[in-house]
Amino acid sequence: MGKSLVILGSQWGDEGKGKIVDLLTPDYDYVVRYQGGSNAGHTVIVGDKKYALHLIPSGILREGKKNLITNGVVIALEELIAEMDKVKDVAGDFEGRLYISDRAHIVFPYHKLLDGLSEKSKGEAKVGTTLKGIGPAYMAKYARTGIRIADLFDPPYFRNRLESAINEAKNIAEKIYGAEFNLSVDKVYSDTMRMFEKIAPLVTDTSLMLDTALRKGERVLFEGAQGTMLDIDMGTYPYVTSSNASALGLCNGTGVSPKLIGQAEVFGVSKAYVTRVGAGPFPTELNDGTGQKLRDEGHEYGTTTGRPRRCGWLDLVALRFAARINGMDGLIITKLDVLDHFDEIKVAVAYEYEGKLIKDFPASLKILEKCKPVYKTLKGWDKSTSGLKDKDQLPDQVWDFIKTIEEETSVPVVMLSTGPERSEYIWLK
Ligand code: GDP
Ligand code: IMO
Ligand code: MG
Repeated sequence: MGKSLVILGSQWGDEGKGKIVDLLTPDYDYVVRYQGGSNAGHTVIVGDKKYALHLIPSGILREGKKNLITNGVVIALEELIAEMDKVKDVAGDFEGRLYISDRAHIVFPYHKLLDGLSEKSKGEAKVGTTLKGIGPAYMAKYARTGIRIADLFDPPYFRNRLESAINEAKNIAEKIYGAEFNLSVDKVYSDTMRMFEKIAPLVTDTSLMLDTALRKGERVLFEGAQGTMLDIDMGTYPYVTSSNASALGLCNGTGVSPKLIGQAEVFGVSKAYVTRVGAGPFPTELNDGTGQKLRDEGHEYGTTTGRPRRCGWLDLVALRFAARINGMDGLIITKLDVLDHFDEIKVAVAYEYEGKLIKDFPASLKILEKCKPVYKTLKGWDKSTSGLKDKDQLPDQVWDFIKTIEEETSVPVVMLSTGPERSEYIWLK
């Protein structure tokens, strides 16, 4: 019996978590999405088919696996149903294959509207959210005005709460933002109930299910969304998402005891460079030809929004921080192949701030803005690693690159990903 495993983003999201979860799924019984919502966009490529998963765990494409959306996820029902439609050719009627927590909160159309209004009102200071209503849905959860999947089993209770929530949203939209608000309680209520009918048979107590599975020694693969540097508590606040995207979100997101969760291994996924979509600090960002080359070679455009991603060199100060707060047992480096044709490759090993060297990622945005990366320059390999599956074929310069990452983070690199397809990877340990 092997251990359970957490796969999570070590940077600002889009590290290739979906691809990694899909390829590891055969060794696990359960795959669990535990935070975030349809702001996530996890790409899985199987043969000539490309799937972009937002809410459904990336394990859905493998037969005989139980996929759970647990209480920490905020669910937009229309997005969940549209996504179910896209994978129904492989997942059939989802029975025994997809389970949805009765404690998960719902993202309503008014949350999406408020997300857009809030962003617009911030002007230059906008976060650059995915406009999926994530912030407003978590705000409602913590303000105790949210509505959970369980509430839909009691239609009068649901309608009552919906009335209050819509009233409040209308007030905010009209009085604070001076915007139009056309959503009616009747329409949102009837749309929600119609959609709920389709997923009601999949709703269950996922906390109990997971607790039982873990105690029996079944293997669970936890699929993080977003990335550590977007974590609401530990990320580059306020340029973050509204959930705990690091390992810190595992217990509250699943409703499982830290003692049980603590038995799982944690692997962080990191690109061989860095990308970020949306606003906020990014010390190693390259606004030059090299940044554009990374974007072109890596096809760095958002899975959820299509926005061009900001690109830069690998930041080992941020990765060291992510390794620590997640308690990483291993690192998975993706998109190695994107670095194939660079004469030299840089990695930031420290920052320089007002003449001093900093090795710990700072909290203050003001300090971060002034931090200049201190780079170690490595030789490029100028050979194709694309699709390589054998570690003996890796150029020496790739081993130097890996050694530097391991030395600076004190975490072993356990896997390399050399292409988007599920078979394009190399285990190193
Ligand atoms: P996620 O949100 O962490 O699941 O990552 P995304 O799916 O948003 O973005 C990762 C992108 O990189 C997707 O288009 C993947 O198909 C692609 N990808 C993943 N791993 C590799 C790799 O090793 N090499 C290359 N070239 N592309 C990869
Ligand atoms: P995956 O799971 C990359 C970013 C947004 C924005 C900030 C807040 O695919 O890695 P939100 O809509 O969550 O309120 O936006 O977080 N963001 C992501 N960036 N990958 C993601 O998910 C992201 N989810 C949110 O761009 O900067
Ligand atoms: Mg993504």
